[in-house]
Amino acid sequence: MEPIIRFENVHFTYPEEEQESLRGIDLSITEGSFVAVLGHNGSGKSTLAKHMNAILVPTEGRVLVRGMDSSDEEHLLDIRRTVGMVFQNPDNQIVANVVEDDVAFAPENLGIPSRQIRERVDAALRQVGMFELRMHAPHLLSGGQKQRVAIAGILAMEPKVLVLDEPTAMLDPHGREEVIQTVTRLCREKGMTVVLITHHMEECIGADRLIVMSNGSIVADGSPAQVFSQVELMEREGLDVPETTRVLHELGLPTDVMDPETCAERIAAKLRGSSAASEYPMNGR
Ligand SMILES: Nc1ncnc2c1ncn2[C@@H]1O[C@H](COP(=O)(O)OP(=O)(O)OP(=O)(O)O)[C@@H](O)[C@H]1O
Ligand SMILES: [Mg+2]
Repeated sequence: MEPIIRFENVHFTYPEEEQESLRGIDLSITEGSFVAVLGHNGSGKSTLAKHMNAILVPTEGRVLVRGMDSSDEEHLLDIRRTVGMVFQNPDNQIVANVVEDDVAFAPENLGIPSRQIRERVDAALRQVGMFELRMHAPHLLSGGQKQRVAIAGILAMEPKVLVLDEPTAMLDPHGREEVIQTVTRLCREKGMTVVLITHHMEECIGADRLIVMSNGSIVADGSPAQVFSQVELMEREGLDVPETTRVLHELGLPTDVMDPETCAERIAAKLRGSSAASEYPMNGR
């Protein structure tokens, strides 16, 4: 199947800058997948995200969204409709005084007939669990609720891909969980393609794929368990790994699992093995 987004040897340098911010990115994103992106400050995550809906276009190489070249002006609107972006600060994304008007704003701008807008807004609010609060004032909501309204505003445009650039950075732990659960559900139940950029490694655990960026390049790419198991690489990049992975690593056990139960079984099996060995000291001699 043709990937929904494909980067082909993408290089990007900001105007007036000497250093490249993307250094030859090759990346294919499968429709319906949940891709998380980690990397320390300045590694190029936001620059990568902005190439996904043609906010930025490559200096060299190309980005294809459903086969449409992002540097082709003719495809700009279509690309923006296909790939919706959610940013860090929900307050900057709120434009109206009532939740449902806020969600209706983007589809109204797309010139969609009002009956259809009504349906889309209601559907989008239900998808993020904010339908009950549709008549509320957005500025009185919690951070997590505001961010869910922002996501609904994007969903009302019926995109195929949701790119979220650190959507939880300004939220408390509860709000973070609300947002991650919402996007996970959108992917698993609605088939939405999700690209989640984050600084929090625990938000990546449920993803299908985890990409690590460093200095404008992709330095790791695989399932979260595969990527986290590269403990030295993650440490070099200044990134955390799950506690389970760290414990297995320190015990010299394979680090390809993350859930606490399997991790505990592995440790128990090792301990059983070593106690069996000490009960029968002559074994194997
Ligand atoms: N508007 C800009 N003009 C010039 N250089 C920029 C601009 N935005 C980012 N850069 C540079 O591009 C590189 C990558 O930045 P980018 O914002 O993509 O990183 P990031 O991984 O998103 O970082 P953060 O975790 O801080 O959000 C950095 O060296 C940064 O200084
Ligand atoms: Mg960024």
